[in-house]
Amino acid sequence: MKRPGPLPEAGTKTMSTEATNDRAVLTIGGKTYELPVKIGTEGEMAIDITSLRSTTGAITLDDGYGNTGSCESAITFIDGDQGILRYRGYPIEQLAEQSTFVESSYLLIFGELPTGPQLAEFRRLLCEHEFIHEDMRHQFEGFPPNAHPMAILSAMINALGAYEPDLLEPEDDSRFIDAAARLMSKIRTVAAASYKKSLGQPMIYPRYDLQYVPNFLHMMFSKPNHPHQPLPEVVSALRQILILHADHEQNCSTSTVRMVGSSQANLYASVASGVCALWGPLHGGANQAVIDMLDQIIASGETPEAFIARVKDRNSKIRLMGFGHRVYKNYDPRAKILKVACDRMLNKLGIHDRMLDVAMKLEEVALKDSYFIDRKLYPNVDFYSGIIMKAIGIPTDMFPVMFAIGRLPGWIAHWREAHLQPSQKIHRPRQLYIGARMRDYQPIDRRR
Ligand code: ACO
Repeated sequence: MKRPGPLPEAGTKTMSTEATNDRAVLTIGGKTYELPVKIGTEGEMAIDITSLRSTTGAITLDDGYGNTGSCESAITFIDGDQGILRYRGYPIEQLAEQSTFVESSYLLIFGELPTGPQLAEFRRLLCEHEFIHEDMRHQFEGFPPNAHPMAILSAMINALGAYEPDLLEPEDDSRFIDAAARLMSKIRTVAAASYKKSLGQPMIYPRYDLQYVPNFLHMMFSKPNHPHQPLPEVVSALRQILILHADHEQNCSTSTVRMVGSSQANLYASVASGVCALWGPLHGGANQAVIDMLDQIIASGETPEAFIARVKDRNSKIRLMGFGHRVYKNYDPRAKILKVACDRMLNKLGIHDRMLDVAMKLEEVALKDSYFIDRKLYPNVDFYSGIIMKAIGIPTDMFPVMFAIGRLPGWIAHWREAHLQPSQKIHRPRQLYIGARMRDYQPIDRRR
């Protein structure tokens, strides 16, 4: 089989931190300890505590890991205060405008933009592997009709590993590119098949002549007696959604993939775990919550101003969904891009969506309001992505699946980066035990 030219080593150009002369000084019980300080390539500072427990006996406590760097990574850079997101150094705005999802995925996974022959070969592999094993088609029949597509997706990704046992541990580059292409190609076939299953319609086979995004839309919306031809604006908007979701450094699902992979679990099992982590409403489910919120506002006839007033009421516990982010304390750069894409796509399609009007008014009111200004709450990526997907005809329970298709290259890139690190250790955090002290076992007749 023809193979691409040598693949770049993952992130070799930037894969180092700078040691500094600075030391963090820590005093515990009258004793002073010095901890090294490291600086990342964009000037971020980290206190290296790898020797903390062995030298002091203490651990750090950081519920939710908001202050903990779990690894060094050369894949994605985020500056949440400035609203900056870059994949392998390239600004997200440039990739969303000029790149394709396949090219951006290659960049994330292998560290460099592909040359013409490398991209052509990666595309060929994606086409070659777009079918799933015929036996796997029968596995769909084992799921109940109302099974959530994320349940099907994670189970099927694990099942894929069973059909490709020789690729579970892709140790060299040519096998790794095969495994990455298979996963990226088959995830959209499985995703579309799970949608068809939920409709009771026959699964649609992929087409060799179509590129990644149109091929997915074909499998989702064609029928055996009626081919679906998406408009270029629809393809472009979905391409942007996938690129913008492709990586976001150590988020919950990516950290899960790295955590599972750290036990040397295979790529398929690690990625299937990432799908499960993404399923939660606080992670991959927020765009669905935005649509529900907009639906409720429209159905009740409430004005955006009145809704914002309710959000600000401390007793209401209502949040403006699609606003705020753990990392971004500025406009999420992905939301800026999707706002334009949403407007452009709906205009071209001639769709006047009341949801977009309400979303834009909510944004306008919130951005002028001191409640949101003081707390640095801005629209996040989910604020507009749901409106786009809904207009394309993707049902809301498939929204997290779309997120998973987009995030897959990021998961693969992180799994690979972690595996290539010679010092890779199993992830095993500590805890501060706050349970009962030692006590003696009581026979059942003496328990109260
Ligand atoms: N609407 C109203 N108030 C908010 C919102 C919001 N969307 N987000 C945060 N706040 C307020 C909080 O009430 C809190 O106010 P207080 O200081 O008066 O108590 C303050 O802002 C800080 O909020 P935290 O919850 O501490 O912020 P955190 O960084 O932990 O949360 C999160 C981030 C979960 C995203 C939050 O902003 C939120 O719930 N947003 C809505 C859900 C959402 O859109 N999630 C998608 C995130 S993007 C993604 O996952 C791809």
